Amino acid sequence: MEQTQNNTSQVVSMPRIGDKAPEFRAVTTQGSINFPADYRGSWVILFSHPADFTPVCTSEFMTFATMEQQFNDVNCKLVGLSIDGLYSHIAWLRTIKEKIEYKGMKEVEVNFPLIEDITMNVATKYGMIMPGESSTKAVRAVFVIDPIGVIRTIIYYPLSLGRNFDELLRVVIALQTADEFSVATPADWRPGDDVIVPTAGSCGVAKDRMGTHDADTKCYDWFFCTKKLAKETIMDKILKK
Ligand code: BEZ
Repeated sequence: MEQTQNNTSQVVSMPRIGDKAPEFRAVTTQGSINFPADYRGSWVILFSHPADFTPVCTSEFMTFATMEQQFNDVNCKLVGLSIDGLYSHIAWLRTIKEKIEYKGMKEVEVNFPLIEDITMNVATKYGMIMPGESSTKAVRAVFVIDPIGVIRTIIYYPLSLGRNFDELLRVVIALQTADEFSVATPADWRPGDDVIVPTAGSCGVAKDRMGTHDADTKCYDWFFCTKKLAKETIMDKILKK
């Protein structure tokens, strides 16, 4: 999708859910990457933050780094980005490790790559710059990309609002659950809660659904049926072996 932004005449690209993740090569704090090719076979969260050495971003990086293993356990890798240079990134991550103690987190080492994007090449490709918010800083964008490089979820937050990382983990697990079990997930779903059976696509299926007496399935009406799906069944399937 192309979009002309409000207060500039610049045309920027805005990837959409279902699009192939735009390709780029970049320098990161963990060496060079070729995205998304280097991540084929894994889920990946590509996320932007406004700037190094800022408080909300520091709290986010400490939280994300502390939870990294939980994301890796469900075959999901993390890649961060901001419009800062590599040496700023390195200095900031060293400061976090050496000096910052926050909410019981200390000596936090950020081991996932943080992209330097001083040219705004990647931020522009992914629609991370929103001039109404800032023309020199990326907003807090989150792209969840699947193992074949397709964008599956996009979430944007403004500069002032730190993200909820439990929610991001929930999103990854819900997407994987939908793929593995051909179901959808209702409001506020968490692993172990009932899932939604795909809506009946014919009158016959609708009638059968309403007559179902399967103890694991519950139909509120012909278009709204849920079924039990145990947390262990989900985790057996998606936890990285
Ligand atoms: C922060 O991370 O604290 C922040 C960054 C940019 C604007 C406002 C807050």
